[in-house]
Parts: sequence; C-alpha cells; structure tokens
Amino acid sequence: MRLTKLGIVIIALELALSAAPYSAQHRQPNEEKRINDLLARMTLAEKLGQLQQLDGESNGNFRPEHRDLVRQGSLGSTLNVRGVQRTNELQRIAVEESRLKIPLIFGFDVIHGYRTIFPIPLAEASSWDPSLAEKSESIAAKETYASGVRWTFAPMLDIARDPRWGRITEGAGEDPYLGAAFARARVLGFQGNDYSAPGRILACAKHWVAYGATEGGRDYNTTDMSEQTLREVYFPPFRAAIDAGAGSVMSAFNDLNGVPTSANRFTLSQVLRGEWKFDGFVVSDYTAVKELINHGLAANDKEAAQAALNAGVDMEMVSRLFNQNGPELLKEGKLSQATIDEAVRRILRIKFRLGLFEHPFTTEAPESLSLLTPANRAAAREIAGRSMVLLKNDHEALPLKRDIGSIAVIGPLADDRRSPLGWWAGDGTPEDTITALAGIKAKVSAQTKVTYAKGCDPQSDSDAGFAEAVAAARASEVAVVFVGEISETVGEAASKSSLDLSGRQMDLVKAIYATGKPTVVVLINGRPLTIGWIAENTPGILEAWMGGTEAGNAIADVLFGDVNPGGKLPVTFPRTVGQVPIYYNHMNTGRPPEQGNRYTSKYLDVPWTPQFPFGFGLSYTRFKISNLQLSAKQIGPNGKLTVSVDVENVGQRAGDEVVQLYIRDVAASMTRPVKELKGFRRATLQPREKRRVEFALTSEQLGFWNREMRFVVEPGEFKVMAGPNSEDLTEATFAVTGR
Ligand code: BGC
Repeated sequence: MRLTKLGIVIIALELALSAAPYSAQHRQPNEEKRINDLLARMTLAEKLGQLQQLDGESNGNFRPEHRDLVRQGSLGSTLNVRGVQRTNELQRIAVEESRLKIPLIFGFDVIHGYRTIFPIPLAEASSWDPSLAEKSESIAAKETYASGVRWTFAPMLDIARDPRWGRITEGAGEDPYLGAAFARARVLGFQGNDYSAPGRILACAKHWVAYGATEGGRDYNTTDMSEQTLREVYFPPFRAAIDAGAGSVMSAFNDLNGVPTSANRFTLSQVLRGEWKFDGFVVSDYTAVKELINHGLAANDKEAAQAALNAGVDMEMVSRLFNQNGPELLKEGKLSQATIDEAVRRILRIKFRLGLFEHPFTTEAPESLSLLTPANRAAAREIAGRSMVLLKNDHEALPLKRDIGSIAVIGPLADDRRSPLGWWAGDGTPEDTITALAGIKAKVSAQTKVTYAKGCDPQSDSDAGFAEAVAAARASEVAVVFVGEISETVGEAASKSSLDLSGRQMDLVKAIYATGKPTVVVLINGRPLTIGWIAENTPGILEAWMGGTEAGNAIADVLFGDVNPGGKLPVTFPRTVGQVPIYYNHMNTGRPPEQGNRYTSKYLDVPWTPQFPFGFGLSYTRFKISNLQLSAKQIGPNGKLTVSVDVENVGQRAGDEVVQLYIRDVAASMTRPVKELKGFRRATLQPREKRRVEFALTSEQLGFWNREMRFVVEPGEFKVMAGPNSEDLTEATFAVTGR
C-alpha cells in the first residue's frame, strides 16, 4: 500500500514476472560440462577467436584470409558466407584443421525470405495474422539451412513510430502488443521447438534496443527516453522473442540515454540476463563496437573493447577490437578472465544447442531442390495477398471484373521487378519477381486489352512519359496506377525528411485522374507515405506494400477479387511529415484537441488526426461489430475478465475482419495511453455470418511500470474498447478493486 502525492491510496499488485522458461527446451545434455572441458583447454587467443565474427564477400564467398584465421582458431563466425560448397569448405577447416575443432556458425540477414522473398515484415504485420509470419519464416529457415547457413540476423523487433526512419520497413510497426505477437511467431518460425533440427535456424532478436526511436528518424542517431517508455513500448517484442526461445540478440548502433546500446550494461546485462534470464549470446551490430569511439564513449580501440565486453556484448561483428585488445585489457585488469570465459561460454552453448558439434556440415538435399519451389512461391503469394490493406473503395471501385474489356496499367512500379523485394532481400533476385503487370496479364481473360505505360521514373523530375500514360488511360475502361518507393529508398541508411511520393509520381496520378476514367492507386512502398491528394480524390486505394517474389500475382488476386483484402495498418499514416511522431497509443494532454477551441492541443495548419489510423483497413464486404460485453463489472488485482463481442458480415461476399481490443486505465499514479491494444483476432466470415469473439483480459495486460519501476496493476476504472480499427470503437467499463 502506498500514498501517492494526491493522497490516493494505491494498492499495487506486483506481478511476479516469471523467469523465462525458454532455454529449457533447447538445452543439450551435458552442455555445461562440455563447455567447461573446452574452456579448460582453450588458449586466450582461441577464446578471443570465438568472439570474432567477420564479413565474407557479398557474393557469398569468404575472404581468403578467413581460411588461416579459422585454422588458427581465431575466427568463430562469419556473416554473408553462404552456399553449401563454401560453408562446408570453411567448416571443414574449422573441424578438421583447427586445434580444438570448434565449428563455425554462419550468419546471414534472412529478414523476409532467403530466395523466395515474402512481403516485407511491415506488410506481414498488416495481416494481423502472426501465423503467416511463422509460416514465411519457417520456409525462409528451410531455404537458409539448405544453403549452409544456420543463423539469421532476424527478427528485427524495433518498434517504430517514425516513418522517416527507413528501417520501419523491417519491423511490425508502432505497437508493442502487435510487435510482441509477431516477434514470437517469427522466432518460432525460424527455430521451431528445436533449432538443431534440419531446416531450422537460430534467430537473433535485434536491434537491442530503441533503435527505432532515433531522433529525427535519422538512422544510427541518438535515442533518449524514459525507462517507463523503454519497458512498456520498446522492450515487449524482445521479451516475447526471448520467451519464445531466441538464442541470440544483436546490440544496436544507437546511443541510449547517454550509453550506446553496444556498451549498455543496463540493457545488456541487467535486463536481458538479470531480469529475463537470457542465456544465449549477444552479437554487436556491424562495427558497432568500434563506433563507440565516434559516440564518444571510448577514447580509443582499447576502451571500446573494454566497454562493450564488460557491458555484455559477446561476439564482435566485423571490427576486431576484442581480439586486438583483449590480452592487454586482461593484463591491465580492465577485463576479467571470467568475463571473457562467460562470453565464450554463451557462444559455445548456442553452438552446442544448434548441434554444430555433431553435424557441422550441411549434407541434406541439394540447394537447388529446396529453393524457390512451387510450394514456397504459393505460400509467398498467399501471404502477400493477406498482407494487403484496402485503404479506400468508394463506389465499389474494386474489385475489377476479370472479363473487363480494357485496363490501363500505369506507373513506374507497375512492371518493376526490384521494388517488390524491398530491402534485405536475402538471395532473392529480380528475375524471379512477378510484377503487377505480369500478374494482371495472367489474371484477365484473353479478350481483355491490357495497355501498359510507365509514365515516369520514380526518382526523376521528367514528365516525358505522361502523354503516353494519359493516352493509355483514355483508351481503357479503368486505370490502375502503381506508385510508391523503390527498394533503395527504404531500409538501412534510408531515412527521409519527406514522406511524399518521390519524383513526379503524384503529378502522374493527378494526370490520370483528370482523364475522368475510374482510377485506382496501388501503393508499393516500405513505409507510411503522405498521400493526402490521393486519399481525397481517387476512389480506390490499395496498400500492397513491397510484397516479395509473388507480389504481382497477389496484387492481381486482390484487384480482381479472388482474395478479399483483410489487412489492417500496423502503423499510423500521417497527413504530413510535420505530424510525426504520430501514433495511436499516445498519452492524453491536459487539453485534448477540440474543434473550434484554439487553446487545445493541435496544429493551426493541419488537422490533428492522421490520414489513416492504426488498425485501419477495409474489405470488399462490410462488417458490424456490436454487443460488447464483459464477464464482470469488477475484478480483483489478480483477476481475469472475459470480453466478448459480435462480429457480423453484413455484406455480400465472404471476407476477413480483424476485431481489435483496446483498454484504457482511466486514472493512475502515472499517466496512461489513451488506448492500448490488448487483443486482436482475424476472422473469416461468410455473408450474413455472425460470430462471437472472446478475449481474456488478465491483470498482466492491465499493469504498467510505475515511478519506482515496479510493474503494478492499480485499482480504479478501466475502459475496454472493441472495433475494426483504433478509432472506430464501441466501449464498456469495469473496475479493478483493491483486493
Ligand atoms: C545492420 C544489421 C545487420 C548487419 C549485418 C547492419 O548494418 O544494422 O541489421 O544484421 O548489418 O548485415
């Protein structure tokens, strides 16, 4: 019991956050004994060798010097080396020619597919169906394994509320609850229940942590935030990944409250190992240890190695400061033998759990039989279709009829094979991509006349192609315009100060619309864009994201109604970049925005509301969500509540609705968000079908981190809200009682 400043008595329930059970299932018999035996035999150089990861060549080869380093026991891991022949060749040196025969672990960025490329993670999160991400990652794992690689630098779990940051494309968007659900699914997809099994690979939860909140949306920049925000918004996906068994974590590039995340003892040791009982290893991001010097946390290489190792980084990616400075740091007493041994122990532990000592080589079916199979392509097509979000559909602009007489397929991205692959496309190749134009041609009847016109280049100021595009629209019954972003402008080091369509793309849409032909815009992009004019004018808008190898077929499936779109935005779309950061689960102000009242929290030149809110998405049918009921009006601090609501398909077609559940803690000892997602369910309903959807609300979902940094559930009134997006909600209330 505690008295707040306001004199309100608060009975705080401290939830015993249970120790993560994850490691048990991956533990190998006698692993600690085997590690101890090895440690006892290792020289200092061999120990430091295990802490070193080096980059091969971008074409998948290793560098010639790697052979010698591996033979000497000075290299424990590589990244980018892939292809069974190469990985087996280097592995053979490790397990046959090095003194202690410790196998290498090969890592690679398999973010949304290895050879079969799935939709970008932000798109998959738009499906609000984590089982799809589990499926795509399990296929990616099989392809990766078949190519000799046993470790992916994924999932990327950074919550991102700033679309200027190009890496928003790699994550699940702005929400910690949705982010945690996808984190869990992705880890299980890669690792399964046993990552030593053939076709499974080790996951790496990255980038630990708060990398998505860098100032100004500028990549690699500084993050400064309260511990509450860290714990409530940025930690949950990582916690979910650890609980799901992720065996490795990557420390990030960003500074965090004055201590860069690759030297941050609080996040790396206190939270990850201390609180969450993570017993896998931490790899630094690419040269992040060396970058501690630029951050100003270290004066030189030696201090950088000291800071990172002592904070809890185990493996150093690319820079070689642990190796170069370890012996001297040890001699000077700035680094203990125990710290080095512990780092080696964590890495060896995962190598044992991966079964690398027993099965160092890839000996399964030839790669060619496992990659880009028809089944994998079919899965990519299905997942891409389920990831799309229908943003507008006035006058039933969509779906199009398959036997339509003529259609103009317009725009710089309509027949572009590269952009659907997005950033980090593994070994995916543009030659394998189905473009929208190809997908549409394959879909329509033989009589349909398809006229393609590029219109403009996405990055140029020229409108030279407009006349041809306008003519194509005029000559057709309907125009579908594909605009958005090319993959080079999303992902790492792709921050932008404007979210507008690049080049002359918006002018192209306006020119096509001006023909008077029904115009549908399909967006191919990796981040929220500001598309105000399109949102106000064109009758149909489909957010297709960067949909992967099968993007074009999936787009055609949706445009022609074979797939009824059911995705929802996992991130808010602003009207203008000046509104950023704009996200649904913000705190209230003392003066919430009010139309006509100047002295409330808003802008003079733009509405305070987003263009499209979090959770938003339409369907070719219509749904009604009603009859929200709670199993109790009051629960105790340890209590549980069932929330139920009807969802009904009141339209003419079968379709999917995502029922979303939000709560609000109305008054607490710390201010709470106006809404917080606490449950969701994607349901497929036939016309006139009605279903009751139930959610369990547990006290863990009602709590927060208080001023003393304790997780508590406070008594008082709570709102429960349910609906098809974060704004269109029906509401009920209940109370948490003191006991
Ligand atoms: C990125 C990581 C990636 C690593 C290895 C870095 O630049 O930030 O996400 O895993 O490179 O390719």
